[in-house]
Amino acid sequence: MSTNEPLLHELLYCSVLAPNQLPTVVGQIVAQARARNTERGLTGLLVFDGLHFCQHIEGPRDAVLKLLDSLRRDGRHTDLRVVYEGSRTERRYRRFDLGFAQSDADDDMAGIQALEGSAALQRFLALKPGFDIHG
Ligand SMILES: Cc1cc2nc3c(=O)[nH]c(=O)nc-3n(C[C@H](O)[C@H](O)[C@H](O)COP(=O)(O)O)c2cc1C
Repeated sequence: MSTNEPLLHELLYCSVLAPNQLPTVVGQIVAQARARNTERGLTGLLVFDGLHFCQHIEGPRDAVLKLLDSLRRDGRHTDLRVVYEGSRTERRYRRFDLGFAQSDADDDMAGIQALEGSAALQRFLALKPGFDIHG
């Protein structure tokens, strides 16, 4: 048996709070997601600015793709767009089953949403130190 952690899959997507939802729904989403992510070996960070979501998720490929499927069917948000997808050998978020940060700057989320691929991921990672993350 190999001692290496199997290849990880990572995903960054952006979406928009559904018009019939209150911003407070994010509390429920995070509480529910944390227990599930721990069970599935998923780690990551969800950022919310009151309207837009950006979430970075990493973990076993099957678990990440299954979550993406659930996310696409979740009526609490709309306009889900995957802006980056790739493989990694090491986790970026060892501490967080799902870190959560509230962003006050509208431009942050819009800036990520406007980008594609590695540029979007780099932008997200660059903003990370400025987020007040509640692990
Ligand atoms: C913005 C947003 C982020 C979410 N993040 C997660 C997550 O990290 N992990 C998770 O299990 N569910 C998350 N959910 C909830 C899933 O969309 C879904 O409701 C949940 O995984 C149950 O899926 P199922 O009904 O297909 O089993 C999130 C939902 C939203 C709207």
